[in-house]
Order: sequence, then structure tokens, then C-alpha cells
Amino acid sequence: MTTYDDEFYRDILDGLAHGDHGSFVADVLATLSRHDVPRLGAALNRNQVASKRWLADALLASAGPAFARVVVLGGWYGVLAATLLHDERFAIGRVESVDIDAACAPVALALNATHVREGRFAARTADMLALDYAGLRADLVINTSSEHLPDFTGWYARIADGQLLVLQSNDYFACAEHVGCVPDLAAFAAQAPMRERLFEGAQRMRRYTRFMLIGRK
Ligand SMILES: C[S@@+](CC[C@H](N)C(=O)[O-])C[C@H]1O[C@@H](n2cnc3c(N)ncnc32)[C@H](O)[C@@H]1O
Repeated sequence: MTTYDDEFYRDILDGLAHGDHGSFVADVLATLSRHDVPRLGAALNRNQVASKRWLADALLASAGPAFARVVVLGGWYGVLAATLLHDERFAIGRVESVDIDAACAPVALALNATHVREGRFAARTADMLALDYAGLRADLVINTSSEHLPDFTGWYARIADGQLLVLQSNDYFACAEHVGCVPDLAAFAAQAPMRERLFEGAQRMRRYTRFMLIGRK
């Protein structure tokens, strides 16, 4: 099998940066050039991108396109924020991506450089278990890292009644970082009771199943 050097892949990304969705690809290329982030490949792999696309499609269909202020918890390198902000079907004012790992914010800012310039993206280092949710004044809170929480119920109790939420978890118990997996969609729904459920679904991936809930707590 032929192996290619970094230059080979950079040339391809540089070419794609001048096509459709070019600004997203250009931001990915600039992030790779300026940051040493081996796990960016995992954050942008097929499963991850598919789960973000699934979220965008289900959110649009169930809750519409317009959100003034979106907060993404456990936002990692900001791929979900970039996916939503580049999606022209939405009218989103601003996305804030929150992660407990201080190494994530600089990468998320680079990956969303287009939106930082427009004043539509911010990255914050914080523990989602300690955030003042009322103070955030978000009209949409997204947590796609539920499987990383040792105490999902404790986190959920901090969220105000009526808050519009998108939640994802999975049954990938084999991953050491996954301390809060659920066995199925019913268990996930039981963990996160909502007064209005707008969407619930499961998506089979190669090694695990991902679950998603959208609704008002
Ligand atoms: C592997 S990543 C994201 C996986 C997820 N399925 C996704 O793509 O949305 C999980 C992220 O959650 C973050 N995280 C874990 N516990 C957290 C907490 N208490 N507050 C904020 N971020 C947290 C980790 O630092 C990590 O960046």
C-alpha cells in the first residue's frame, strides 16, 4: 500500500477549501497546520461527522432553524458548533462550546475561525457539572457527551424546567472514558424525563449504538 506524507493530504484539503463548504475545510486545514492534535482525526471521523449531521437534521425537523444562543457541553474540538454554524438551513446567532479540558478551547477556536471572526463562536473551559445554567441564558443546550458523565442525573438536575435540550449518549461501554453509558434508548429516556419530547431515536454505528433525545425538560 502506498503511504503519503502530510503534504499530500494538505494539498487535497487546500484544494477542497476552494470548493463547496470551503470555509469549513479551510478552518480544518488551518487548525491542522497550527495545532498538534492527533485526536482531531477521531473528532472528524465518519461516525462523529454522521452523528453531528444526524443531530442537525433531527433538530431542524423537530425544533426549527432559529436559535439566538446555543451552548454545546463537552464540545471537544468544536466540530458540532462548526457543523451547525456552517449549516445554511439554520439561523443561529451564537454558539458557545464548553469543555472541561483546557486543551480543547484553542483548537475549537481555530476550527471555528470563520465564526469567531463573525462574533458567532466562543469556547469556554468549564465543568458542565458546575455551570450556572440560568446565567447562560441559552435557548438551546446540547450535551452530546452524556456518556462521559459519571453522574448524569446530578447534571440533569441543574437544568431548568422548560429548557430546550438535545442529548446524545451511547452503549459503547468498552471505551474507558465512557463512565455514563446507557444500554438502550429507553434507559436514556428514563434518565432524562422531559415534559415535551420532540424527538427520540437510535442510530446503529459499527461498534455501538448512539441514542438521541430532543425536547423540553
Ligand atoms: C470525546 S469527547 C466528545 C464525544 C461525544 N460523543 C461528542 O462528539 O460529542 C467528550 C468530551 O467531553 C468532555 N467532558 C467530559 N466531562 C466533562 C465535564 N464534566 N464538563 C465539560 N466537559 C466534559 C471531555 O473533556 C471531552 O472533550
